[in-house]
Amino acid sequence: MIKLMKYRRLGKTQLKVSEIGLGTWELSLKKRNIARKILEKAFEYGINLYDTADVYGWGKCEALIGETFKKIREEIIIVTKVGVNFYKKPISLDFSPHYIEKAVQKSLNRLHTKYIDILLLHRTPDTVKEFVKLSNLIKRLKRDGKIFYWGISVNIPQEVLAILQHVDDIEVIEIPYNIIYQEPRISLFSRAEKNKIGIIAREILLKGLFTGKMLKKSLSTNLKLNHISKEKVEDILQIIIDLLNYLHLKEEDLLTLAIGFALSDPRVSSALIGTSNIKHLEEDMNAYRKSLLFSTTYRLIEKYYENFL
Ligand SMILES: NC(=O)c1ccc[n+]([C@@H]2O[C@H](COP(=O)([O-])OP(=O)(O)OC[C@H]3O[C@@H](n4cnc5c(N)ncnc54)[C@H](OP(=O)(O)O)[C@@H]3O)[C@@H](O)[C@H]2O)c1
Repeated sequence: MIKLMKYRRLGKTQLKVSEIGLGTWELSLKKRNIARKILEKAFEYGINLYDTADVYGWGKCEALIGETFKKIREEIIIVTKVGVNFYKKPISLDFSPHYIEKAVQKSLNRLHTKYIDILLLHRTPDTVKEFVKLSNLIKRLKRDGKIFYWGISVNIPQEVLAILQHVDDIEVIEIPYNIIYQEPRISLFSRAEKNKIGIIAREILLKGLFTGKMLKKSLSTNLKLNHISKEKVEDILQIIIDLLNYLHLKEEDLLTLAIGFALSDPRVSSALIGTSNIKHLEEDMNAYRKSLLFSTTYRLIEKYYENFL
């Protein structure tokens, strides 16, 4: 297989990450041998960035990555997240240094590795004080060689903007960014660039809504989508139909457009795709390869967002 993957520097880190990263939450739902095949196939495509979290599948996804890649550990970049304490019921957020240190050790064990390339906090601690305490722990974990870089996974820019006023050593931010959610480009990316913070974009396909396949179904079909209500799905599909009409493009172009758009901002270093299906991975990679075809369209999508959404 010819590798057509391109790589970008991630902020101020020394890491060169594949433009497409593989999200692994979806693999938690799959049988072990199928999940491993997807990871192996992704590596063949040149994907070197694997995004996971200790809580995905209650440790299953980290263990899968560990088993699959233990012989080629140095060739891949592992991003994992801690902060959701699933070790005891009820599950809760815990950003105390004591808990985070324990969670990191458990992740290292499951991942069969001595180091985590990028450790992300799975959400934002409530106070800056908590952040500063954690920042001290992170320095120690780095000195011990257990983690190389750290950062935070957030849902919206506001969660991280306040923190950046007080904490200046964050190296990576993972955030949703896609054709209909461009707030990070507007309010966060230039701030991140100033601090040389690397950006990993997620939800670029919005749970599969941007694959074009759902447009083929009637808008009134009862679409089952995790975390998104039927009404919201219908609204989003209508926005997509309007956008495609505006661009004079077809639904077959949507997957390429969605992947290409996320990568069209040079401040995004890697865009995650989540899939538990090998055929879908192949389709996503084909779309990635074609994404430069639309290079002039991406600015129109930015304009459309600013003027109509
Ligand atoms: N930090 C956080 O809080 C957080 C939150 C959400 C996600 N994440 C990370 O981001 C990763 C990606 O998740 P996301 O929410 O950003 O999802 P996404 O990549 O925008 O969409 C994933 C969905 O798209 C579907 N899909 C992908 N390619 C497809 C194709 N060619 N045809 C049809 N359907 C296709 C997948 O279904 P199939 O499995 O059937 O292919 C899956 O349901 C996760 O795995 C996780 O690593 C992090």
